[in-house]
Amino acid sequence: MASTTYVITIDGPAGVGKTTLARRLAETLDISYLDTGAMFRTLALKLGLAAESMTEEAIAKACAEYHFHLKGHGERTQLFVNERLVGSEIRTEEVGMLASRLARLAPLRKALAEMQRKLAETQPLVVEGRDMGTVIFPHARFKFFLDASPEIRALRRMRDAENHDQPTDLARLTEQIRQRDVQDRTRAIAPLKAADDAICIDTSDLDISQVLGLMLRHIDASGGTARCR
Ligand code: C5P
Repeated sequence: MASTTYVITIDGPAGVGKTTLARRLAETLDISYLDTGAMFRTLALKLGLAAESMTEEAIAKACAEYHFHLKGHGERTQLFVNERLVGSEIRTEEVGMLASRLARLAPLRKALAEMQRKLAETQPLVVEGRDMGTVIFPHARFKFFLDASPEIRALRRMRDAENHDQPTDLARLTEQIRQRDVQDRTRAIAPLKAADDAICIDTSDLDISQVLGLMLRHIDASGGTARCR
């Protein structure tokens, strides 16, 4: 099996800022980033809820129809599925919830795990998701785990949505984030959790630049000594 190049993992719950940080970190290091949540969301939209009642073989066969690749570096990294740019259609909380339901299906995770590892064989990457440091890249060069309360994450999501002229109900968003947390943290396969050797950052009282600064300091100090436990 070909080995991965240089990988930095960022894991954490919905709305904690992983994608923004992966993008900024990749820009600073001049490498590409991989948003694995976008891969789950894309397949969720393609397969739909019907995937829950499909056989393992049928799910594997359906997943094999889709191929992901990356173009560009840093903030300009783009994710393509079958040569088409993955767009904003995947960015709703409803698609996030559907992705979270289908993310419990073993054959779907297996198909995506293979694609994620393959992408890292040919290029250095910042990868973000739920199981990057624990399952997909256990030997990553650096591992980060970000967390913040559901209320704070929902508030950030709401402000984001408002900036895009999409008013959102805060109570509903908080509830959706809580539900997705439970689903992602308690599933049997690859549940959301920090790797033992991950550096944990509570982002509750920090802005993006402060979190990025902390990450870069750990990287500059060749990993530092901070551990989650
Ligand atoms: O990160 P994002 O919110 O886009 O992810 C959507 C869903 O995809 C998550 O709630 C999670 O259930 C699933 N996911 C996963 N493993 C990953 C990335 C995402 O299970 N590595």
